[in-house]
Amino acid sequence: MTIEKRKHTARNTKENMRRHFARIFIFVLALAFLPVIFIGAQSSEQWKLPDIPWAFPIRGKVQPVIDERNGPQHVPGSAKAYTQDQIDDLANPPDWFPDEHTAMPKVVSSGAAGGVLGCASCHLASGLGHPESANLAGLSAAYIVRQLADFKAGNRMGEAMNDMSRNLSDEDARQAAEWFAALKPSVWQPVVEIDRVPKTFINMHLMRMPLPGAGDEPVGSRIIELPQDVARAESRDPHSGFVAYVPKGSLAKGKAFVTTGGNGKTIQCAICHGPSLNGLGEVPAIAGHSPMYLFRQLYYFKDGSRHGSMGALMKGVVAQMTQDDMVAVAAYVASLPPGTEEGSSTGAAAETSASTAAGTSDGKTAK
Ligand code: HEC
Ligand code: HEC
Repeated sequence: MTIEKRKHTARNTKENMRRHFARIFIFVLALAFLPVIFIGAQSSEQWKLPDIPWAFPIRGKVQPVIDERNGPQHVPGSAKAYTQDQIDDLANPPDWFPDEHTAMPKVVSSGAAGGVLGCASCHLASGLGHPESANLAGLSAAYIVRQLADFKAGNRMGEAMNDMSRNLSDEDARQAAEWFAALKPSVWQPVVEIDRVPKTFINMHLMRMPLPGAGDEPVGSRIIELPQDVARAESRDPHSGFVAYVPKGSLAKGKAFVTTGGNGKTIQCAICHGPSLNGLGEVPAIAGHSPMYLFRQLYYFKDGSRHGSMGALMKGVVAQMTQDDMVAVAAYVASLPPGTEEGSSTGAAAETSASTAAGTSDGKTAK
């Protein structure tokens, strides 16, 4: 056995042991929460999208015409060109920077039979996604596979994912999971505390956009995530992120919940999600993910519509949280640096690809 190989084996053994202990630990925690496991489970027939439009977007009835976007579109740094129709072909999404990732499995680039769309359309070729979908970059493959199975079984709601996962083969699920797991997480939507936000509308692709010339309005108790550059977001440019506006005071309030359990209202997240909230074994990374997405999940765990095999562990976490608490927790977690499970919060894998928060003068960008 060469030294290289031996090192590799030793690392694998260590890794296996760590995962083994993480599993035992989670099993013990699961027992502690058993009584709440079955409360609140709903069947998919009863399920309705919660009426909280800032977090669970529905297409605006009025669609202001903003930009015709005729002809070939470009994004900075890429030599490629696609028309808007090509960009919006969910079965064949654009790949602006093919050199930045390994070859995509077919299901990621162009979907599969039975209406399975290319995963890279909604989740982008970087995996970072839009706030109305989800950030998959660097999640563990085992976690991704479990979510796909939960969507399929109706243990987790989300129209697009429920429909597609039913026709997704196990092999395609595995290949997609492994490909997204290998992508690097990065800062994608800086969090900014603010009083007022631009007036907005939801476009045909369920993305929130500023309403041109309409002025602003109080942020209220909402999280408003907007593209840093509207045209580039419409091009599904994986280099152009978002900015998340949150109510003032959210970060300090959220920090108290996350780090101390908020005087017994919840449980410290790091116990299960790892010290930097970048994941532990099969418990997913949450640091630096979209706060709008994070809010939706906290809400789903509480209303019982997300109740997969491991969702039970989140039941006790959210049981006493109000919606405002969830806004604060989501804002704080989103403001933390994304990274890899092993590394510290400043791990080399966390890169800043979207560091320029869109023009906010009175806003304070979270550290
Ligand atoms: C039409 C858009 C669309 C496409 C295409 C799509 N997804 Fe999704 N996906 C979503 C949305 C929306 C959500 C978030 C649901 C929610 O808010 O809970 C999501 C969530 C997920 C999640 C959960 C992430 C997490 O952190 O738990 C996984 C895993 C996932 N998608 C995998 C895939 C894979 C694999 C494919 C390709 C086969 C795919 N998706 C294609 C829209 C899409
Ligand atoms: C007892 C263990 C435990 C604790 C404590 C815990 N979590 Fe979780 N959390 C989990 C597990 C396990 C999952 C994955 C559930 C699944 O597979 O559906 C999860 C999933 C999540 C998700 C969904 C992630 C995604 O990508 O969809 C969010 C958001 C979340 N947790 C937030 C939190 C926050 C915030 C805290 C602290 C206030 C917290 N969790 C504390 C175990 C825990």
